[in-house]
Parts: sequence; C-alpha cells; structure tokens
Amino acid sequence: MAQVVHFQADVWGHRYSAEDRERALCALEQGSVLYFPQLRFTVAEAESRLLTPAIAGASKNISLDHLGRIPLGIGAGETELELLRRMMQRFAASSGALLENLLPRYQPGLQQARTSFRPVEIAGRATSWRKDDSRLHIDAFPSSPVQGRRILRVFSNVNPHGQSRAWLLGEPFESVARRYLPSLRRPLPGTSHLLRLLGMTRSRRSDYDHFMLQIHDRMKADQDYQSKMARAVCDFRAGSSWLVFTDQVSHAATKGQHALEQTSYLPLACMQDPSQAPLRTLERLVGRPLT
Ligand code: SIN
Ligand code: FE
Repeated sequence: MAQVVHFQADVWGHRYSAEDRERALCALEQGSVLYFPQLRFTVAEAESRLLTPAIAGASKNISLDHLGRIPLGIGAGETELELLRRMMQRFAASSGALLENLLPRYQPGLQQARTSFRPVEIAGRATSWRKDDSRLHIDAFPSSPVQGRRILRVFSNVNPHGQSRAWLLGEPFESVARRYLPSLRRPLPGTSHLLRLLGMTRSRRSDYDHFMLQIHDRMKADQDYQSKMARAVCDFRAGSSWLVFTDQVSHAATKGQHALEQTSYLPLACMQDPSQAPLRTLERLVGRPLT
C-alpha cells in the first residue's frame, strides 16, 4: 500500500534541507504520497465567490492550460473568469516553487501542464464509470498521450468549511500491472496514427499509453476489485497540500469539495531511479520496449 510521508513546510517557497530533499525523492519514486499538512493555498477574499459548484457548469473541474486559456462552456462570467485565471495561475506558481525547492533534480526536464480547480463535492457526484475518480485507478489521459513521461500532480485542499478531502490508496503499480496485463489487448497496427489524424489525440499514442489507458479502464470497471481490494483511507485536511505520481499510485478520491491541482510531466531521464517508472515496469513484464 502507498505510504504517506509528512513534511513540515508552511510556505510554498520553503527551503528544504538536503535530507528532506533526498527523503522526498526516494519516497516519491517508490510510490509514496508526499503530504504537507500545514501547506495552505490561500484563496483571496475576492476569490471566495468562486467556491461554488455552479461555476463549473456541467463539468467536474475547470482547467487552465499552460497558455492561460480556460475552455468555454463553464458557468462563469467575465469577472469570474478573470478571478479564476488569476487564482489558478497563482496556484501554478506556488506549486512550481514547491517542486523547485523540494525536487531540484527534476527541474531541467519538468514540463508544466494543466492546472485545475475542483469545486464540486465528490461524494454522490453523477458521472460515467470511466470518469468516476472515486473508484481506485491509476491516471492515464485519452487525448494527451505521455509516451512514458511521468504524471506528477500537486493538490491543495482549499475547502473553506474545514472539510477534508478523502482518498483511498491501493496496491503498488507492479501488482496492478500483473493483475491486468495478461488480459489486455495489443494495440492494432496503425491505431495511434489514425487517432492522431482524426484529432482524437494531441500527439502519438504509444503502446505504453495504450496499455495504461486499458489498465485505468479495467480497474474502474472491475466491481470485484473495487469492493475487495485492500486500501488505505487517507484524509487530507482543509488547508493542506500533497503531491504524488498519479500514474504509479493507485488512488481514488471519495469525498471532499474545493481543491486545486497542478499537473506536470517528467521525462524518465530526470528520475533518480527510472527503473521504478510504470513504463519500465510494464516493459519488464511484456519483454519489449513500449515507446
Ligand atoms: C483523481 O486524480 O483521481 C482525483 C483526485 C482529486 O480530485 O482529489
Ligand atoms: Fe486520478
């Protein structure tokens, strides 16, 4: 089961000791969650009007891409859009400072991707099984292939009423992979090219992406697995933050409202121990390169 490793910082620009940095790097790459119980992201007075599910329209999240764009179709007017953009950009900068100070080794290759705001209560949220993050899963994105790069995510619980965000943490990646790999379909030749041509993926879907998507789907669709699999319950309190490789750590978010999240991609070459990456685990198990 994934461990939760605590850090004492209470500001985003905290200067970590060499010991803390080493502890963070090892724990993260082994599949632990790094938890900062005192690291609060402050929502400004003027931004508190954004803390309502109505602002997300029919979506569960509002996302901001690295060019500062928010997709249309959410329930926000011009003023709110500007407030949202500023709040999310501030979160992107704050989480960037955390990663820079805690994990300097990753800096040369780390690629900042989407920022998201999550104002909808998770418990009881209506959604398809595939999008239901309250089921244990590893992250894989249908339209954004990662081609083996790691998915590193920073979360902050900004709930104004003191409500925790509850997660479940499941078995290690290798166990998940061993469970589902034998029954996965091999990608059909030409599929990745066709998806790219049709504009369904932003770049080429590698065999790695193909397998990860199937594992994500299999886990969520497997009722038996969801009900019987051993898991740890983890409460991230209001005013706390955490970071985790969500492509490796089996997780589910079951309860909570109002969080911010920053996604980054990390090339394997930047890792201290790339052999722990899901790409290398899958390649060992299938016996061939997957990117
Ligand atoms: C997820 O990545 O599965 C959702 C996490 C969250 O919103 O807390
Ligand atoms: Fe997830």
